[in-house]
Amino acid sequence: MLQFLSLATALAAGTLPHPASAAGLNEAATAIGLEYFGTATDNPELTDVPYVAQLNNTADFGQITVGNSQKWDATEPTQNTFSFADGDAVVSLAEGNDQLVRCHTLVWYNQLPNWVTSGNWTNATLTAVMENHITKVVSHYKGRCHHWDVVNEALNEDGTYRDNIFLSTIGPSYIPLAFSFAAAADPDAKLYYNDYNLEYGGDKATAALDIVAAVQDAGAKIDGVGFQAHFEVGTVPDSASLATILTSFTDLGVEVAITEADIRIELPATEEALVQQAEDFGALAEACVGVEGCVGFTIWDYTDRYSWVPGVFPGFGAALPWDEDLVEKPAYDGLLEGLGGEAE
Ligand SMILES: *[C@@H]1O[C@H](CO)[C@@H](O)[C@H](O)[C@H]1NC(C)=O
Ligand SMILES: *[C@@H]1O[C@H](CO)[C@@H](O)[C@H](O)[C@H]1NC(C)=O
Ligand SMILES: *[C@@H]1O[C@H](CO)[C@@H](O)[C@H](O)[C@H]1NC(C)=O
Repeated sequence: MLQFLSLATALAAGTLPHPASAAGLNEAATAIGLEYFGTATDNPELTDVPYVAQLNNTADFGQITVGNSQKWDATEPTQNTFSFADGDAVVSLAEGNDQLVRCHTLVWYNQLPNWVTSGNWTNATLTAVMENHITKVVSHYKGRCHHWDVVNEALNEDGTYRDNIFLSTIGPSYIPLAFSFAAAADPDAKLYYNDYNLEYGGDKATAALDIVAAVQDAGAKIDGVGFQAHFEVGTVPDSASLATILTSFTDLGVEVAITEADIRIELPATEEALVQQAEDFGALAEACVGVEGCVGFTIWDYTDRYSWVPGVFPGFGAALPWDEDLVEKPAYDGLLEGLGGEAE
């Protein structure tokens, strides 16, 4: 069991030594049976040498997610002209460190180039465009992506399909089609559906279960479901509830992963909020560890220096386990404990 009361007490007493790691996050994760603990990164921060030095630290990170540079607007900015340099830079860095790569993402309503969203497509022409995109991008990275997020955020909060050019032109079958095109281009990559707010169960999670079943019923390959886990502090479900949701997916024969975790705090972050954040991160990790078939845990970048949160949630920040100075926060120890590691 976690001992957050003692963590909170130690923090309040100022007796918690930093860094507290007896082992790193990835070392703890793999020791307890996960495949990896990892982080997303993005190209602009790869010029920040101290940042990259820690990104390279495989005691903490055994896996890297490509934050933006494999998205459609980055890889196929004009039709059938592909651009892989930025994605390659992230993948090569990970490979240089023997870190697994989660490749992200092929079909998403957002960060699409204009030529896709404003094209006058028919079902047949847009299906061909989607097939060409998926085939070229997945083939380029063939053998180098441990996971591919094939379809991202296809659902509204009420469990209906999110409107996008693919849904309105092709219909819901764009989802199984995308998975079958990806599987044909790289049979060895684990193919994921990835979304947020699945962690509470309810209509959206039920609809995601239906997506898994629909892809399977269409005879296409789907290997996993990514739980993004973007939270506000204090709203993370308890680990037992989350484990139940995760298990409802693994019961369909797919694996699951925490893929984009961050836990935002209203600024300025109080010590109490930072302790709550440590508990929240710990509960997430504990839930994954407790579910056979939860294979890994990824945070959406590792330091508040490069978090997307302040730009998207005005007034919020401090969402990651390392602060803006690359110093570990209580959340680091919370994660480590949730992963069964020893925070000293
Ligand atoms: C990070 O790792 C990459 C790949 O191994 C290496 O090329 C680079 O020099 C490393 N950078 C730092 C700052 O450690
Ligand atoms: C869109 O495509 C349809 C059928 O392919 C065609 O009839 C129509 O003129 C096109 N509209 C525009 C604005 O190009
Ligand atoms: C588009 O074509 C596919 C077959 O490729 C079919 O399953 C689907 O129902 C069609 N969608 C629409 C909206 O007609």
